[in-house]
Amino acid sequence: MQTQAAPPPERCKNRADQNFRCDQRSILDHGQFEFSPDRFGGITDHIGGTPVVELKRLFRNNGAQVFAKLEALNPGGSAKDRPARAMIEDAIASGEVTGETTVVESSSGNMGIGLAQICRYYGLPFVCVVDANAQIQNLRIMEALGATIDLVETAEREDPLSARLDRVRALVDSDPRIFWPNQYSNLSNPRSHLEGTVRELDEALQGELDYLFVATSSTGTALGCQEYLRSKGRSTEVVAVDAEGSVLFGGSAGRRRIPGLGAGVISPLARKARFDRVVRVSELDCVVGCRSAAHYEALLIGGSGGGVVEAIRSCGEMLDGSTVGAIFHDSGQRYLETVFSDGWVESNLGLSASEMRSRVMAFASRDTIL
Ligand SMILES: Cc1ncc(COP(=O)(O)O)c(C=O)c1O
Repeated sequence: MQTQAAPPPERCKNRADQNFRCDQRSILDHGQFEFSPDRFGGITDHIGGTPVVELKRLFRNNGAQVFAKLEALNPGGSAKDRPARAMIEDAIASGEVTGETTVVESSSGNMGIGLAQICRYYGLPFVCVVDANAQIQNLRIMEALGATIDLVETAEREDPLSARLDRVRALVDSDPRIFWPNQYSNLSNPRSHLEGTVRELDEALQGELDYLFVATSSTGTALGCQEYLRSKGRSTEVVAVDAEGSVLFGGSAGRRRIPGLGAGVISPLARKARFDRVVRVSELDCVVGCRSAAHYEALLIGGSGGGVVEAIRSCGEMLDGSTVGAIFHDSGQRYLETVFSDGWVESNLGLSASEMRSRVMAFASRDTIL
């Protein structure tokens, strides 16, 4: 079989005007992959371009039109595919990542899967530092994509995120060939949402977005959205949806079991974050939001998306007559043993299946539009 020097993928060429240089030869020389430019592209060329759906039934009692961006339809199953790709490709372009590099990141799930995917695609070893709260199936997905899982044990009162970050720093200090994308400070994280997530939503809605509800943790998604909307001169109010128990936006620390929502430490990105409004949701709010989206819209969304649904509902009349955007970061399929398990909800949140049904039925007045 004949091999030849690999041309950069199409996406890199398109970024020439932003001084984006993509030279994968060092990785290819070291690794086993070869790129063939064809009109379909590889899996990572299909990150982005996710659908927008109107939530007509869920918010039938509100005087607002609500549109949701379904980030679960990225190939790795979440919004985190976007920053994962951006952080690695930008580091390849700058020469920070070469064929000798091992990528290490701390993640409770989605970012780990996104990085496992992009690292496997480029033939880079990836170590994901996780804590005991990580969902087993997320770890299995990462492993199936070739990642090594490094599980950090945390003491009773220790914040799991801080413990994971300590472990990553120790690994980085131990080997100069380790690259830490660090989603909590890397500007490629918000930029990927600026160039992708919000631009796509804004274009789909032709710039007519009065409110945008975004779940926050690293705050990369919300920051990227806000920066894009400001740069376009939109008057959109960006609403950060945060968890009870998160220290972001002046919150106080507490237990959080909904992955990807909130933070136990204020990261460099979050330090810069000032949003128009913050809505704080409980774990139960997230569950009711998820169950309601499934019931009224036949839409299986993840825990943070449930929080966004409940945050929109709680804003009630404020949203009357407006166009509202919502970003749903991932799918409910990864929460079947928690959010969508009656047993888990009853034992962890104290709500029985029948009480849950009443809460869901109270969300909108009728459950059919036929
Ligand atoms: C499911 C989910 N929702 C929301 C977020 C928050 O996104 P960001 O880190 O960009 O603030 C994350 C981040 O990990 C997530 O995994």
